[in-house]
Amino acid sequence: MQGPFYITTPIYYVNDVPHIGHAYTTLACDVMARFKRLQGYRVWFLTGTDEHGQKVEKAARAKSMGTQAFTDEVSANFRELTQVMQFSNDDFIRTTEIRHKKGAQALWQRLQEKGYIYKATYAGWYSVRDEAYYQESELNEGKAPTGAEVEWVEEESYFFKLSAFQDRLLAFYEANPDFVSPRYRMHEVINFVKGGKEKIEGSLKDLSISRTTFNWGIPVPDDNKHVMYVWLDALANYLTALGYPDEHAEKYRLFWAPDDAVGKDNIVKGREGNEQRGKAIHVVGKDILRFHAIYWPAFLMAAELPLPKRIVAHGWWTNEGEKISKSLGNVIDPFQLVKEFGLDQVRYFLLREVPFGSDGNYTRSGMVNRINADLANTVGNLAQRVLSMINKNCEGRVPARSREEKEDSILLGLGYTNTEGSLASKACNALGNFEFHMALAHIIELANKANEYIDKQAPWVLKKKDPQRMESVLATLAEVIRCISILLQPFMPGATHTLLSQLGLKEEERGLMHLAPHHALVAGKPLPVPEGVFPRFVEEKNNAVS
Ligand code: MSP
Repeated sequence: MQGPFYITTPIYYVNDVPHIGHAYTTLACDVMARFKRLQGYRVWFLTGTDEHGQKVEKAARAKSMGTQAFTDEVSANFRELTQVMQFSNDDFIRTTEIRHKKGAQALWQRLQEKGYIYKATYAGWYSVRDEAYYQESELNEGKAPTGAEVEWVEEESYFFKLSAFQDRLLAFYEANPDFVSPRYRMHEVINFVKGGKEKIEGSLKDLSISRTTFNWGIPVPDDNKHVMYVWLDALANYLTALGYPDEHAEKYRLFWAPDDAVGKDNIVKGREGNEQRGKAIHVVGKDILRFHAIYWPAFLMAAELPLPKRIVAHGWWTNEGEKISKSLGNVIDPFQLVKEFGLDQVRYFLLREVPFGSDGNYTRSGMVNRINADLANTVGNLAQRVLSMINKNCEGRVPARSREEKEDSILLGLGYTNTEGSLASKACNALGNFEFHMALAHIIELANKANEYIDKQAPWVLKKKDPQRMESVLATLAEVIRCISILLQPFMPGATHTLLSQLGLKEEERGLMHLAPHHALVAGKPLPVPEGVFPRFVEEKNNAVS
């Protein structure tokens, strides 16, 4: 068994129904969680909803609903999305749950005890849509850099001494250049903390962390007039879901603390000025990197708690070239996509179409082309041809590889991970680095190679000419289909489950360690009657893709 692996999605605001962006972030985490489980890691995969703050309160008011009733309703949509998309999350946290509120307040108290919170007055710009404070210098024609409206806020507020962490953050980034990925995003973060190219003293301003002008939030301990700033509340979910503030909690010790930080008394030791990175990997959209790569580590440093291991930032989707927004009416509904195209197909498209980290453009024609070219014509067709030939010509049993020829071993080598530089090894390496599109490209390449092989070997000709060779060819192909299906599991759990069952493999025979010749299909094993996977998508006339 490999070690523990903790992966989180951002928790989603419940001001509106889930859209493609939410489905995308969680999908990436799901694929990574499934991949790590297949490698034998003990995985904890967390997602949930961010339910406090002005934006949510406003949305509830607009629907004339009580805030709690509203958040219950919208949060349920996100939970439903996890089921419809077959996300394998181990927990789903809501920030309105008691376990979270208690934990977030405990974190606040800890920051206070360490002397990093003080009371003053905030006077400045705030964007409700972004739930973010902006400095005057950041505004563009009176709007936030994101294009969101800002409003002037002046109120009594507690502040976090973020400015005290400028040097420590910079030193930490320098010592851990892989903390943020992609790497160019790490540079953006460093520049922001430095305050431009040249380090400007005090460019990191103290952060207002409480509000008094509305009350939909977690009360500040010992001062009920204030509610916690929604980002401090929200970021704490990564800890509270593991049982924090109970640092003895099993999940906390297992998934948050670095191994060498758990002392004899089972308490995680903090070390001031000597940051420790734990195990957490936070996957976030590029828009919320500042909160995760700057504020969150600073809060943790102040609380003397271990930091996450890595922040992975992905890009944004547009719809047929346009920014997705409610006002443009072009929001993509993931439930609708799944209904129309099928779950495995949608999961495949989202991660194959664009490099993780880059922005992507959703087009209907792109979706249809991927489904038909990669899934129906390449993987589906390969499996269908091979499995039905075996069913018809080999008495429905795994045929024997009696004579292995050079072409056979070359093809098989590509599908095993013990062969250096094989497509299977490349796919696993890419996946481990969050390069989902590359991993898929390598796996599809393997299917292409198998299709070239089948055309060249022409088992349908061998049937009469050399039945023994036909058996070897079909056995080689069945073995490659086994490898392809194992590799595709994290991406497309449904179809690969069908394929692997058609190859007669038990659940415990589907791990990544089975991508080796000594786990090859055993000749003579009876196989169930095959059924097709990945049908072609045929456009109805009025939707036809030009
Ligand atoms: N509640 C905060 C996160 C708190 S985490 C401690 C939040 N929520 S959100 O619902 O607005 O956004 C959640 C995620 O969805 C972000 O990672 C964001 O990048 C992602 N997306 C929102 N729109 C998107 C696209 N159009 N494309 C891809 N992802 C996008 O921020």
